[in-house]
Amino acid sequence: MCGIVGYLGKKDGIKSVLLGLKELEYRGYDSAGIAAIDIEGILIDKKVGRVSKLEKSLKKSSNKYSLAIGHTRWATHGKPTVANAHPHFNTSRSIFVVHNGIIENYQEIKDLLIKNGYIFESETDTEVVPHLIDYYYNKINNLEKAFELTIKDLQGAYAIEMISTLNPRNIYIARLGSPLVIGNKNKEYFIASDPAAIIEQTNKVRFLEDYDIAIVSDKGLKVKNLRSNKASKSDFELLEYVSEESSLGKFPNFMIKEIHDIPKTIETALKGRINVSKGTVKLGGLDSVMKQLEHIDRIIIIACGTSYYAGLVGEYLIEEIAGIPTEVQLASEFKYRNEPISRSTVVIAVSQSGETADTIAALKKVEEYGVLRLGVVNAIGSSIARMTDAGVYCHAGAEKAVASTKAFVAQTTVLALIALRLSKSKGLLNKKVIKELDKLPKLVEEILESSDKIKTVANKYKDYKDFLYIGRGYNYPSALEGALKLKEISYIHAEGYAAGEMKHGPLALIDESFPTMAIATDSRLLDKVKSNIEEIKARKGPIITISTKGNRNISKLSDDNIFIPSTIEQLQPILVCVALHLFSYYVAESLGRDIDKPRNLAKSVTVE
Ligand code: F6R
Repeated sequence: MCGIVGYLGKKDGIKSVLLGLKELEYRGYDSAGIAAIDIEGILIDKKVGRVSKLEKSLKKSSNKYSLAIGHTRWATHGKPTVANAHPHFNTSRSIFVVHNGIIENYQEIKDLLIKNGYIFESETDTEVVPHLIDYYYNKINNLEKAFELTIKDLQGAYAIEMISTLNPRNIYIARLGSPLVIGNKNKEYFIASDPAAIIEQTNKVRFLEDYDIAIVSDKGLKVKNLRSNKASKSDFELLEYVSEESSLGKFPNFMIKEIHDIPKTIETALKGRINVSKGTVKLGGLDSVMKQLEHIDRIIIIACGTSYYAGLVGEYLIEEIAGIPTEVQLASEFKYRNEPISRSTVVIAVSQSGETADTIAALKKVEEYGVLRLGVVNAIGSSIARMTDAGVYCHAGAEKAVASTKAFVAQTTVLALIALRLSKSKGLLNKKVIKELDKLPKLVEEILESSDKIKTVANKYKDYKDFLYIGRGYNYPSALEGALKLKEISYIHAEGYAAGEMKHGPLALIDESFPTMAIATDSRLLDKVKSNIEEIKARKGPIITISTKGNRNISKLSDDNIFIPSTIEQLQPILVCVALHLFSYYVAESLGRDIDKPRNLAKSVTVE
């Protein structure tokens, strides 16, 4: 999704902004731009394509600008063109704006501005902002006030940054529903939509809240909240943020690197949280709310995409281990539903980025219900991490490939820990789950070692146009996740189904051209899955199975088989999904896809 960066200080603004834009590249974008001001004049440069193209073009400029803003754009209103790329500006090129989010009432504002003689060069919603600031400035001759009046007129979601030759000492910023963070180091200020963009330059940060409007100048930071109409504290905090190794090392792209990070990811998610010999779980992030958690009778997990599938595994785990009725809802649906929610309900938001607009909106919906809101979040200091009452970090480190792999595994691991922590029993199952959790890193290593076999199977099936993924029980969510991953990075049509549903419709699709990936690992439901496989075979559907190492009955039944090591069914989704992630990866690789940045997708979906 779009990314914002800004710099104010005495050093090299262009260099700082380019550094930040490069850190945001993994989020997905189709154009990039920069605007900078200093006594020598203004610079504006925009390019369709990669930040490296912009960087190359900026090498021609030898000036060090003390004021600069930059943007990576992921097209929403209008195609990826230079005219649509940010920064946008007014006709006299004195006001420059970058924006993340969507301005819902832009057409209304545009009509008013056109009536007043304004000419538009782009198809974007953002371009109304510099023109509207210009419009108010011409009336009241006060830039700060003109910025504020403009922000008050906007409906939708935004993170906005503005610089102007009318006051070349300030950066003006505003936030509503789209993240913004300000970093400080002595007299230098760094602004970004994601702390990852500035963490190399400072870890002293101030996150803006919704309705905040701020001015950064060499005199410091001034923040006002437009809802309360009061000045807010402008204190900075130290962000505990571990900057990730951004190099690929021996890997050709981030997705495969991140799959190989999984054993370490599980180890980190478990570190200091489980005691195998005592069979206990400790989650510091929940300590402050444990008393409240003793009285809950319903859990609603809200999430999107892969995080939603991790949530589904969480539902099975919490219900079986902790015995608390749990349901998972798509955040984009939950926020518009009118369902009764009692005070004894807990809402758990699961999100890798912590910035997904739908999940944030769903959390906001329950704000006034007085329910406890927990987060299972990966990105430290993100909006969801800050707006929830308590939570458990995934600690998976930065995930840069658009397709989520290690974060899914970390989310599932953390949800298993939450289930154990909420459980009032210290029974056999709990002990077994803790023991098996501890073994997972080694078991994942075994799957990684069998990558060549998975690659061979992937190459054999790469030219099929459709795929069905089926599973039961704990592996029903694995089927959904496997299908999502395949369509996302290989662009092959794939559907995930509960295996028991085959007879109720999907079986009609099956013929020689429609392969099925059947998850048939050892579990209470294996015999049922076997029957489903037989039904597909009878209709000549090619079958790939994922089965437990040593179970020859299953491998004999299928055209191709991928073995995974044995573990309890409650934790199988983690191992199954690592194998399915590798399968999708190798299909996409053999088809020559842009694996880390699949078409039309972005890493962090900050618009509804
Ligand atoms: C798929 C994928 C997405 C995300 C979804 C939610 O591989 O990565 O489906 O899971 O956009 O994102 P977060 O977890 O950041 O809220």
